[in-house]
Amino acid sequence: MGNKTYYITTPIYYPSDKLHIGHSYTTVAADAVARYKRLKGYDVMFLTGTDEHGQKIQRKAEAKGVTPKQYVDEIVDGIKDLWKLMKITNDRFIRTTDKNHEEAVQKIFKKLYDQGDIYKSEYEGWYCTPCESFWTKTQLVDGKCPDCGREVELTKEESYFFRLSKYQDRLIKFIEENPEFIQPVSRQNEMLNNFLRPGLEDLCVSRTTFNWGVPVTFDEKHVVYVWIDALSNYITALGFMSEDEQAYKKYWPADVHLVGKEIVRFHTIIWPAMLMALGEPLPKQIYGHGWLLLEGGKMSKSKGNVVDPVVLVEKYGLDAIRYFLLREVPFGSDGVFSNEALINRINSDLANDLGNLVSRTVAMIDKYFDGVMPDERLEGDFDQDLKKVVMETPPKVEQLLDKLQFSSALTEIWKVISRTNKYIDETMPWALAKDEANKPRLAGVMYNLAESLRIVSILLQPFMPETPEKIWNQLGLTDKKTIDWDSTQNWGVYPAGTKVNKGDVIFPRIDIKKEMEELEKLTVQQPEKKDQKDAVKQKEEKASPDGFISIEDFAKIDLRVAKVLEAEKVEGADKLLKLKLEMGEEIRQVVSGIAKHYSPDELIGKFVILVANLKPVKLKGIESQGMILAALDKAIESGAKVR
Ligand code: MSP
Repeated sequence: MGNKTYYITTPIYYPSDKLHIGHSYTTVAADAVARYKRLKGYDVMFLTGTDEHGQKIQRKAEAKGVTPKQYVDEIVDGIKDLWKLMKITNDRFIRTTDKNHEEAVQKIFKKLYDQGDIYKSEYEGWYCTPCESFWTKTQLVDGKCPDCGREVELTKEESYFFRLSKYQDRLIKFIEENPEFIQPVSRQNEMLNNFLRPGLEDLCVSRTTFNWGVPVTFDEKHVVYVWIDALSNYITALGFMSEDEQAYKKYWPADVHLVGKEIVRFHTIIWPAMLMALGEPLPKQIYGHGWLLLEGGKMSKSKGNVVDPVVLVEKYGLDAIRYFLLREVPFGSDGVFSNEALINRINSDLANDLGNLVSRTVAMIDKYFDGVMPDERLEGDFDQDLKKVVMETPPKVEQLLDKLQFSSALTEIWKVISRTNKYIDETMPWALAKDEANKPRLAGVMYNLAESLRIVSILLQPFMPETPEKIWNQLGLTDKKTIDWDSTQNWGVYPAGTKVNKGDVIFPRIDIKKEMEELEKLTVQQPEKKDQKDAVKQKEEKASPDGFISIEDFAKIDLRVAKVLEAEKVEGADKLLKLKLEMGEEIRQVVSGIAKHYSPDELIGKFVILVANLKPVKLKGIESQGMILAALDKAIESGAKVR
């Protein structure tokens, strides 16, 4: 191993017995980077783990009648199993209940207290248990947690405080001087403008109302605030403040902390301030990725979609799931998950484009050359162009992976796959095979196909743990030198004389109609069947004769502010626009008859008022999940309740 190190982390996960596919997002992304860096010769430290303390866990355990430790132990095993199933190559797994972590957290707390960065005072404020976050009254939105919208509890207790405010100016300066520190840039602006520049308050860092946490050594009725405990994992896992700090010295500062956008604030404000106070270097980058959402709802309340990663991996295979996660959503933005989108990707990109290319190539070498690759090279126009497209790709993929642009990196690889498929159409091997005189040309075509696939298969390794090997088996590639990452820089490495092995189809096509029906059976909770006529009758009875609706009827309408993300005309309908709306955490699709009043461009970025609980209907075959009442010129937070 070389001496270049690379340290990457995921957040440590709350023990939840219902992990959905969205949870695997950060981990799969981090795994792709870790695999890539190892292939590039780095000595990689890839850390993940579990965040096991706090009031939320204590309450759940109480409800189940078990101790918090018993409660988390069982779940943590399940999480570890999931990462195994997803072939996550983490080098360490930290649990915040690990003894050495707890001891290091105690030492960190004590050090900060001794030097005056932590002091004792009294706390009065609102606490959101699900987010384990403190809020002041002015920060609440409609009296609820501004992050998750749930109930908060008024808390008054003796507490220790961390002098966060002291680090405000240094933090602003650091962020301004290090534009790579918070990525993507939009999140950097959000942190500076919404939190840092308006001013930081000191942070309450201990609790006395429950005891499932790391005890403060010098004041045992206090436990350390769960975020101080959790964030410390990134250094305690390396032995910081333990007898053996070797790994810490070797790997810290981290190259990147990958985190979901909702926890960027903790990682870019509290965490660096803690490190500044400890006199330790700051991580090089915090990357806040977007969320994977379900159309019309949150992942945790899945309806009509299978979101259990174990079921998905069993049904479609690991590589298909990992491919979807990394391809469908540009890292940094939000994206939508649906079983239909997943199956479409599998059919088009994996079965049609990649799978077919492998099968066709191997089958043709088998048929025309008895499975043994002849030694023949070609320099014609098509051949030159194919070679150019292939050879330009590895450096592009590397640059994109260095910037964590997984989706674009995969797009580049798929350009090669498409170009190679096109090459088959251009060179028409089946026509060449008809004339013995064309045999050398046919042989050269086969060589180019195999060589292009060789390079593709090597580049797929960070994303897919299983497919590259399947392709190597079929192409007959056994020599390590021919599948080495750096060998993608050279054209012509595929050894002539290699025997190919016809094998199974690597990505079978899925019959989408049948599959959707099957999935439907797995997920849909049958709505109560009502007699149609009865429903109509009831409606008629309720309608008011004077044309007014009652306040009770009005009260049923859920009016929300939503932001227009995308707008486009509906073909064959002058009045209709199809809109993609962001309503808080949800993405909605609405078909609206406002094309005469607004052009699509005009609407993008605008806020609208949406009747959010209108029964979905199909307009021109497109599902509409709500109705728009008005467009607003003033920016309001999306998802805000109007009524
Ligand atoms: N325990 C804290 C992190 C402490 S780090 C010092 C936590 N845990 S979590 O289990 O709620 O989330 C773990 C990761 O999963 C986060 O990065 C979060 O953004 C990610 N995701 C959970 N649901 C997600 C989606 N639906 N989509 C994408 N990622 C999401 O936060």
